[in-house]
Amino acid sequence: MSSQAPSGSSAPQDEPLLDPVGRPLPDFPVPVPLGSHGPARIIALCNQKGGVGKTTTTINLGAALAEYGRRVLIVDFDPQGAASVGLGVSPHELDLTVYNLLMERRAVIADIICTTSIENLDLLPANIDLSAAEVQLVGEVARESALSRVLRPVMEDYDVILIDCQPSLGLLTVNALTAAHGVLIPLECEFFALRGVALLVETIEKVRDRLNPRLEVDGILATMYDPRTLHSREVISRVKEAFGDTLLHTVVGRTVKFPDSSISAEPITTYAPAHAGAIAYRQLARELVARGDAA
Ligand SMILES: Nc1ncnc2c1ncn2[C@@H]1O[C@H](COP(=O)(O)OP(=O)(O)OP(=O)(O)O)[C@@H](O)[C@H]1O
Ligand SMILES: [Mg+2]
Repeated sequence: MSSQAPSGSSAPQDEPLLDPVGRPLPDFPVPVPLGSHGPARIIALCNQKGGVGKTTTTINLGAALAEYGRRVLIVDFDPQGAASVGLGVSPHELDLTVYNLLMERRAVIADIICTTSIENLDLLPANIDLSAAEVQLVGEVARESALSRVLRPVMEDYDVILIDCQPSLGLLTVNALTAAHGVLIPLECEFFALRGVALLVETIEKVRDRLNPRLEVDGILATMYDPRTLHSREVISRVKEAFGDTLLHTVVGRTVKFPDSSISAEPITTYAPAHAGAIAYRQLARELVARGDAA
């Protein structure tokens, strides 16, 4: 979390709040209510490393944006279905998922999108069926733009669409990058965090050159940060050295409240609304809106 400057009337001067790498932390304003909705900006949550906080960020950023009145669609694009489960949907009981939209021309997205317990937050679920799409899409025409085609009919209905990618750089992830306007890269604050990021950036650049010229890296989000360990602080300053201001000011601390909230199948923003983890994801939502990365 942000380092706290001394506050109160005894403070000699108004020292600015600093982020964990020592940059002044802007006071991101609460987003103004939207008069109308859409078209959506699509953000892919992507890192081929497993367990870095992609799904946790998708769910909680989505819930925070929804709290600010944005209409949000979460696309579960991982055959594990973790985003679906985390939002209270049992994907293995569903007959129709994003898989059917990818593979069957007659499937209708409006029939497959589920509402969630969070107002303004909808879900396009996935289950293990999606693992077959990776193989079946290979023989299709325009195999990289299948997801882009699937999302087209609902672009006007949402302000933000978040795609929770699986931990791989295979064809499903390439589909997510081809559909997206921006990529958000969650990075766990641990020693090997940067390993593989070069390959991820290379993949993003290839997709931009060959398939989707509008694609940009919206930011790197440091997750599971523990300010008490030298290690966490070292990792985050190395990320800052390597990526500059692509590293977002917002950092998500390590806390068991995240696994706890997944077990109760709801975002931390409703499970523990006043917890530092909920506050961090609301700040992330405000930071992305302030950067122009979300409506
Ligand atoms: N800030 C955090 N502090 C503590 N635990 C966290 C934090 N963020 C996520 N977790 C936990 O870490 C685990 C992995 O997180 P998550 O599922 O979001 O990662 P992922 O990148 O989506 O994983 P995968 O690559 O398997 O899809 C989960 O158990 C989650 O609850
Ligand atoms: Mg995941």
